[in-house]
Amino acid sequence: MIFWRVKPLDAILATAEKKSLHRSLGAFQLTMLGIGAVIGTGIFVLTAEAAQKAGPGMILSFVIAGFVCAVAALCYAEMAAMVPVSGSAYTYSYAVMGELVAWIVGWALILEYAVAAGAVSVGWSGYIVGLIENVAGIDIPDAWVLGPLNGGIINIPAMFVALVITWLLVLGTKESAFVNAILVAIKIVALTVFVILSIPVMNMENFQPFAPLGMGGISAAAASIFFAYVGFDAVSTAAEETKNPQRNMPIGLIGSLAICTLFYMLVASGVIGSVGAQPLLDANGAGFSPGSAEFAAACKASPDSYVVCSREALAWTLREIGWRQIGNLIGLAAGFALPSVILMMMFGQTRIFFVMSRDGLLPASLSKVHPKYRTPHVITIITGIFVALFSALFPVGVLADISNSGTLFAFAAVALGVLILRSREPGRARPFRTPAVWFVSPLAAAGCVYLFFSLSRETQLMFFGWAAIGLVVYYLYGYRRSQLAHGVIEVPEEEADIPPVPVPPLPHAPTPGGKQA
Ligand code: ALA
Repeated sequence: MIFWRVKPLDAILATAEKKSLHRSLGAFQLTMLGIGAVIGTGIFVLTAEAAQKAGPGMILSFVIAGFVCAVAALCYAEMAAMVPVSGSAYTYSYAVMGELVAWIVGWALILEYAVAAGAVSVGWSGYIVGLIENVAGIDIPDAWVLGPLNGGIINIPAMFVALVITWLLVLGTKESAFVNAILVAIKIVALTVFVILSIPVMNMENFQPFAPLGMGGISAAAASIFFAYVGFDAVSTAAEETKNPQRNMPIGLIGSLAICTLFYMLVASGVIGSVGAQPLLDANGAGFSPGSAEFAAACKASPDSYVVCSREALAWTLREIGWRQIGNLIGLAAGFALPSVILMMMFGQTRIFFVMSRDGLLPASLSKVHPKYRTPHVITIITGIFVALFSALFPVGVLADISNSGTLFAFAAVALGVLILRSREPGRARPFRTPAVWFVSPLAAAGCVYLFFSLSRETQLMFFGWAAIGLVVYYLYGYRRSQLAHGVIEVPEEEADIPPVPVPPLPHAPTPGGKQA
């Protein structure tokens, strides 16, 4: 069943060869790329969410999530180096597990990218609103800066940033390595300053009780904070442009994840030690679910301020310990740096959509190119509208968790795909080989499953509902329309930023390898 309608790997590779890029990236550039894509709303905002779920034990949550990402990253790198074409997990799955699995993975990647862009937009909004309120002394009514689940009506700043980024993408904006380097520096400086100011005022008593909501709370926080590491796949997808990938890929992947994990643990310790990170509990001693109306009401009613209630955890913490202006500067740093994460996420989403529409699984009209800007304006605008709507209405934690569910599914598929391909085609050239693959791949898949089932029940249901809708869409559309169904295997792979044009079906198309339906 899983080998049904497989796209031959050699056909995919033939398309990749045509665009073979210059190998120029070394370990350092890869690490910078990784840090640029990874540090964002996760650490700046969701630290509060993790504290509400785990209390001080969130430090362990950061380690668990970082570890799962590290093993998943090693599997991703093998696939990315071997199949260096656009579409990431979707394309790998098409080659290894066939069209149906690929479709579900692509469908899950919509959660990873589009919903994540929404989450980062909401995170940005929290910081900008806090900055305006603190610098200009204006009190902006919650109604216009929070979604309905948090006691507001609509989150206008989040919507605004999502639409501005959409517009930039339509105009063809891409982040240069230079801009990335500046933003990485801003983020690293902001987090370093935070650590330097918060660690000295640490009170060890704040670490007790360490796990007020038990191991369940720590796992739940790990599943949410996983979001803080998402984006490292940007490193694996640069495999094709990497010098000596066997050496530099793992350094770039593991290096950027290790640096982020270290920073995240220091920042989390700074928050816990300086202002405390105990969760708000209900009358039965259970933790409120962050993002729920009850939690919002409990925060409003609480006489003391808690970091768990803050929408700009790091800036809030610094202001609380007496560094008001620096807290504002951290807000400014987040205001500058987070939009680039939104840009990368939305760009990733449009690329996945192109490839899916090029394969005939989505209508070709979606990947129409703008005559002047040479960008896929139709799909970019549609994506942008959805991202703006998500960010206008939902809390950051809810969006991050939904995004994580899709990402975990895609990572698990890649981890299994690596093993399947190792046993099916052991002799194929692999520029990068996952070390101890028979141990690392199952570990990565198991880690993803564990984190998935540590997400809230609602998030899991949402994921399964989304997958079910995906299956219906596939049977109504892609199953009949896919290029492979019409015998077209060879597909054009153009420049990374120019969407592909649809390929007309071949007359009397052959049945490749007899593997099609
Ligand atoms: N890891 C990215 C962030 O935390 C998605 O914003």
